[in-house]
Amino acid sequence: MKLSEIGKEVLNIQDCGKLLIITEDTVAPLYLETCADSLRNAGFTVFSYILPAGEASKNGENFLKLLEFAAEKSLTRSDGIVALGGGMVGDLAGFTAACYLRGIRVIQVPTTLLSAVDSSVGGKTAIDLPAGKNLAGAFHQPELVLQDSSLLETLPEDVFLAGMAEVIKTSIIYDESLFEKIQDPKNIQNILPEVIGRCVEIKKHFVEEDEEDRGIRHILNFGHTIGHAVEKLSGFSLSHGFAVAKGMDRMAELSAEEGWCSQETARRIHEILVRYGFDLSVHFSADEIFRLIQSDKKREGNVIRLVTVESIGQCGIRTVPMEECRALLEKIL
Ligand code: GLY
Repeated sequence: MKLSEIGKEVLNIQDCGKLLIITEDTVAPLYLETCADSLRNAGFTVFSYILPAGEASKNGENFLKLLEFAAEKSLTRSDGIVALGGGMVGDLAGFTAACYLRGIRVIQVPTTLLSAVDSSVGGKTAIDLPAGKNLAGAFHQPELVLQDSSLLETLPEDVFLAGMAEVIKTSIIYDESLFEKIQDPKNIQNILPEVIGRCVEIKKHFVEEDEEDRGIRHILNFGHTIGHAVEKLSGFSLSHGFAVAKGMDRMAELSAEEGWCSQETARRIHEILVRYGFDLSVHFSADEIFRLIQSDKKREGNVIRLVTVESIGQCGIRTVPMEECRALLEKIL
């Protein structure tokens, strides 16, 4: 579906009214006008709000500013928010939509590979708190996800690569044939629409089974426990995908070390990440990472659920006491 057709698409779910486009300063010069024109031509009244790009914008202050902005423009319950951007925009705009007037519609328009294959699908919305990433949020399903893969053509190489971490993750947790298909980084652009489609299908499978993330959906967090900690410890100078790549490598190593998967499986995971050019070194100690993991969402009381590898295409969830988690971290950091 093309971004220029968004007006027509939204008319299928909303009678004319107001739409607030929330976007970021790297995306606005490229796509805001196309998006706003299409919506206006379809008869909507359109407002826009541009945030500085980067995870640091996903905070409580911007969340309140967005709520105030929506109120100033008198958005009502029959109006909507359009999240035009990457994961940061999708999460923050989604959370604003979830809370404004106790919930108005949100339409997700992912402009990065990461948001196309992961964060725009499944209804998780959030902001970060000083204590950690995504610690305040809500489940709020988008009424429409407009996937236009041509928007990804302008992505800087590192932003594309960050999205590949989530693609590789998706293949490891569920689909060995997808893992085989994406082995060659030089060929990935040729098969991108097919790869995105398969990743969205797999994500939908987990979300449909467990929308509120009480069980099987945790598997989508493979690599994210260490990943989120490293991302936060770097002051978000390391982007989500790069941090998750490090987390996946360490969890694969741990899984092999503990006999939960074969050494061969861990080696294949390490090799594909290296082949795509990820730096897999972790410059933080087990202590530093453990401190952050203590406020991880996957912690429940004195235990935490870790996503471990069993084979390519199959991951499992292990509930471990926090003290054991610390000991496990020490083995791999
Ligand atoms: N990104 C993990 C999830 O949506 O559950």
